[in-house]
Amino acid sequence: MALIAPSVLSANFLQLSADIKMINESEADWFHLDVMDGRFVPNISFGLPVIAAIKKEATKTLDVHLMIEEPGKFAEDFKKAGADILSVHVEACPHLHRNIQQIKSLQMKAGVAINPHTPVQAIFDVLHDIDVVCMMSVNPGFGGQKFIAYTIEKIKQLKAEIIRRNTQTLIEIDGGVTLENAKEIIDAGADVLVAGNTVFASANPAETIRQLKAL
Ligand code: DX5
Ligand code: ZN
Repeated sequence: MALIAPSVLSANFLQLSADIKMINESEADWFHLDVMDGRFVPNISFGLPVIAAIKKEATKTLDVHLMIEEPGKFAEDFKKAGADILSVHVEACPHLHRNIQQIKSLQMKAGVAINPHTPVQAIFDVLHDIDVVCMMSVNPGFGGQKFIAYTIEKIKQLKAEIIRRNTQTLIEIDGGVTLENAKEIIDAGADVLVAGNTVFASANPAETIRQLKAL
């Protein structure tokens, strides 16, 4: 059974309060919050004030995925806004180890996100330092894209290395997760499934979360 993290990027921003309530009352485990800067990724989403507002109503872990350059400049601000887990992209961090230590020193759980083209070996040497690997299974920037199939192989490689190093790191899969492919993703070694479009475009989001959770 995987943890389920609905992606608020696909929520209805005109009724965010209702969507937060739905997630609170559902079997979901985390809120996945996608922050985009229009530089690291070719899109802009939402930022600090929206996360601070969500924090007031959300009763579950806030999992903040930073798709921004120079994330170190803002780590303290995201802590203040209410982030429980803060993930930075390996591709945006030439001094990744320092970013991770900063996040941990701010009493947040540390995550590292990794793009589809980046070999998973790029993060092996920080596995013992981090709580979550957010493995992108689409190119970051947009919800509702198709799952990139070779991610399954990357999950298996990462899982084997986590076992070999005996760390507690969770594998979170982000992008294109559906009710059809979720089982294969879990079987490959995923611990957390992000789901945006699959949850929010469904007729009954809470039921879809329940179905993902039941796999
Ligand atoms: C993409 C984001 C994802 C996105 C997932 O850049 O990081 O979290 O919201 O959305 P779906 O599940 O629709 O692919
Ligand atoms: Zn994300």
